[in-house]
Amino acid sequence: MQIKKHASLKAYHTFGIEQTCSYLAIVDSIEDVIQLLKDESLKGLPKLFLGKGSNMLFTEHYDGVVIINRLKGKSITETAEHYLLHIEGGEDWPELVAWSVEQGMGGIENLALIPGCAGSAPIQNIGAYGLELQDVCEYVDVLDLTTFEIKRMTADECEFGYRDSIFKHALYEKCFIAAIGLKLAKAWKPINQYGPLQSIAEDQLSPLSIFERVCQVRMEKLPDPAKVGNAGSFFKNPVISQDHYDRLVAEHSNMVAYPAPIGMKVAAGWLIDQCGLKGVSVNGAQVNPLQALVLTNVDNCSASDVVSLASLVKKAVWDKYQIELEHEVRFMDRFGETNLAKIEAVQ
Ligand code: FAD
Ligand code: EPU
Repeated sequence: MQIKKHASLKAYHTFGIEQTCSYLAIVDSIEDVIQLLKDESLKGLPKLFLGKGSNMLFTEHYDGVVIINRLKGKSITETAEHYLLHIEGGEDWPELVAWSVEQGMGGIENLALIPGCAGSAPIQNIGAYGLELQDVCEYVDVLDLTTFEIKRMTADECEFGYRDSIFKHALYEKCFIAAIGLKLAKAWKPINQYGPLQSIAEDQLSPLSIFERVCQVRMEKLPDPAKVGNAGSFFKNPVISQDHYDRLVAEHSNMVAYPAPIGMKVAAGWLIDQCGLKGVSVNGAQVNPLQALVLTNVDNCSASDVVSLASLVKKAVWDKYQIELEHEVRFMDRFGETNLAKIEAVQ
């Protein structure tokens, strides 16, 4: 296992902002993870697991150990009705989706091109184009950070929700996700209700055609982090009460929103766009001109430029719609996780 001291994080997160950490270790086995966690010389230092860093904003130097998950391997078993995939947590998610489609296994094609590791997918229950991880997740294998035992959790036990799971709550900082299990039905059914997928002709529907259309839509709408630093949707789509929605829609009849289990889920990109913020920037940080929900590093920006831009966006949406945006991107400061409200409070 490699451990670097005072390492750059630039290549390990997708915002492309220069930031450093005290130690950086790349792990490719559970034994590596356990060895690191038990290492006396690193005791007392905060630890952060990282996949591809595609949902992260490092606001400062991280004064701890960043542990990069590169546990690799995948296997398939079959029943009469399903393919059962066991995927090690460090596998690349977009490569996994492309591979599954190539193998003729449908079921995760709607989740094409979502950057990140398989082991990170359960944390926010990744979702796109009508599918969420929870729809195909059979289990999640976790390493308990206190007992160092591996436990298999069922999908139900993961308490999945919209961009949410038990790993953000009761199991926050309590486990390392080692592997996931996916259950894909052999009797494949297309999920093509999302706008641009509806135009695929009925007789053309296949895992491959959906995969290709999803890739096309994503490449047209979302900036490629390899070219322009970003972390995908910066904010979650907010859920507001039916009352609040009714009041707003009376004034803004073209408001984009969908029924949620309780209340209405509003398209945050639409809200930001309606505030006239597309293309607005703070130094090198910019609200993406094509998809306003994405904040980008267009010109060597600093983390504080992104924080200032995020504050500006949040305030504008609050002032116009009285809707509080919550960021999806995870903020890390010198010692651990933080958030926009905490940073604003000390400024
Ligand atoms: P990281 O950013 O490395 O980590 C995210 C969090 O998980 C951190 O808190 C980290 O500490 C924790 N973590 C990581 N690995 C482990 C582990 N093994 N055990 C315990 N904790 C761990 N998301 C969607 O849901 N839908 C989309 O359509 C989507 N589109 C995107 C498009 C772009 C261009 C980008 C840049 C991002 C997009 N995202 C999307 C967000 C991102 O892809 C997902 O959140 C993804 O699951 C993050 O994976 P990662 O490996 O990069 O996680
Ligand atoms: N919209 C605008 N202006 C904009 C952006 C969007 O008017 O600048 C409108 C669109 O026209 C559309 C609606 O808002 O009517 C929704 O936009 P889109 O379909 O692009 O999806 P989204 O709600 O912005 C969500 C996820 C994405 C996911 C897509 C596709 C969240 C926070 N984001 O985006 O996930 O890929 O749907 O399913 O839920 C991510 O989480 O990082 C991410 C990219």
